[in-house]
Amino acid sequence: MAQLDGKVAFVTGAGSGLGREITLTFARAGARVAVADLRPVAAAAVDAELRALGAALACGPLAGDVADAAAVRGWFERLGDATGGRLDILVNNAGHADTDAETQARLARQVEELMAGGRPTTPLEATARLTDERWHRMLAVHLTGTFFCTRAALPLMVAAGGGRIINMASIAGTTGIAGATHYSAAKGGIIAFTKALAREVGGQGILVNAIAPGYIDTPLLDVLGEQRATQTALIALQTVLGRLGEAREVAETALFLAGPGATYFTGQVLSPNGGLVV
Ligand SMILES: NC(=O)c1ccc[n+]([C@@H]2O[C@H](COP(=O)([O-])OP(=O)(O)OC[C@H]3O[C@@H](n4cnc5c(N)ncnc54)[C@H](O)[C@@H]3O)[C@@H](O)[C@H]2O)c1
Repeated sequence: MAQLDGKVAFVTGAGSGLGREITLTFARAGARVAVADLRPVAAAAVDAELRALGAALACGPLAGDVADAAAVRGWFERLGDATGGRLDILVNNAGHADTDAETQARLARQVEELMAGGRPTTPLEATARLTDERWHRMLAVHLTGTFFCTRAALPLMVAAGGGRIINMASIAGTTGIAGATHYSAAKGGIIAFTKALAREVGGQGILVNAIAPGYIDTPLLDVLGEQRATQTALIALQTVLGRLGEAREVAETALFLAGPGATYFTGQVLSPNGGLVV
């Protein structure tokens, strides 16, 4: 019997990177999976992969924004109709990273200073330039989106007597990342949300954990622009295992938290980061 045989899972941001890998890993482990993504074409593509594996649900791909309360309500109605109100596993994974051209230029200057053998002294001043719009959008997608999906999932899990909620945080939320205070704050908020919710719903059989990956090779890192190759090489140098992570390695962490081996884990933050943080 596969680890997730008979389970119903819902993965947000499933159209790319970690979400897609988690979706397919869960499907191969026996789960039927509902997928949501901001990009309809990406959501449809991963749903087609699920259909080929015999792991799709009748609700089909769910397109929309996790930060849109009405869209999220609609997703869960369609999911509930397709599964008779059943949901065993929720993965709040949808997210994005952003930066501005000036921060990228200053990061490039810091790298030049480092290469010249000195200490980087160019200030990033990214927070002083951070706009209201970028700040609010970051918190809306990551933190509010996690809340909206969790709020909709809880009644289904309570009715079933239990479930698993897995929230995608980041080492940004545990150590902070310079130049990304908004992203770090959103991810730190997700960790605090995870811990509080774990305490609140543990008595109802619902286990809530977070994953805080280090740098994983996905399209999210394209935010580094022309600096991607240099920055990721520097990150790999600082990582005990000497490389970036693969999406598969985060998906295996999610599978563990969703599966029968994790019955004594709740309120925890597992951090697949190759030793970048020890
Ligand atoms: N790649 C990394 O190094 C890394 C490290 C730590 C944490 N994370 C987190 O992992 C999660 C997945 O990232 P990834 O690396 O797979 O990135 P990715 O860009 O490959 O995939 C993210 C997916 O989420 C979708 N999405 C974005 N905003 C959305 C929204 N508002 N509503 C619905 N869907 C939305 C995108 O369309 C995309 O398909 C994110 O929460 C990210 O912050 C990534």
